[in-house]
Amino acid sequence: MRNARIAKLAAAVGLCATAAMPFAAGWANDGAASSVLGDKLPPGYRDWRLISVAREEGKLNDIRAILGNDMAIKAFRDGTLPFQNGTIIARVGWSDDSFPDGNRSFGHPQSFVSGHPKNGVQFMVKDSAKYASTGGWGFAQFDGGKPTAVVQNTCFSCHETVKTRDFVFARYAS
Ligand code: HEC
Repeated sequence: MRNARIAKLAAAVGLCATAAMPFAAGWANDGAASSVLGDKLPPGYRDWRLISVAREEGKLNDIRAILGNDMAIKAFRDGTLPFQNGTIIARVGWSDDSFPDGNRSFGHPQSFVSGHPKNGVQFMVKDSAKYASTGGWGFAQFDGGKPTAVVQNTCFSCHETVKTRDFVFARYAS
């Protein structure tokens, strides 16, 4: 039952990753683009510390890093839930590419590395009052540096399956 529901949601988000592009272009053109983080990627997010890494198969087919601002890192390291207001968690993704230089050095194919940025950059922002209806989390996605239209419930419906961990899948990779 539960697996079927997750599979359905996964199919939806897979479509989203590609279907979101025309939307993003439209928004960028009329200058009305915005997200729970405003219209720009949060400054310095690429330098945030690493929480974990992940890989998605299927339509998403990428490798990804989960990064957190200082509040996020502290909560993960201390193991405290729920996350405090002001916590931001980022998900960055790249194509998962075979790596010829590595393969040559090993003498056989086995190396894979991050390729081009893929499936946008996603964020979860904690503000328990503002986003009370979605577990206290605001969700944002940026494609090519521009915010895309995000239906909070589309993101939340999936993250809701990890309610006992304050709706966050990632575990700290120590
Ligand atoms: C089909 C289910 C599903 C949907 C829909 C979904 N996510 Fe996730 N999300 C996941 C899973 C599973 C992970 C953990 C594995 C990974 O990173 O791929 C994750 C991880 C994340 C993370 C890293 C923190 C964490 O929970 O591990 C962020 C940030 C995130 N998603 C944002 C979003 C945003 C923004 C949206 C909507 C645009 C969204 N997600 C929609 C399943 C989903």
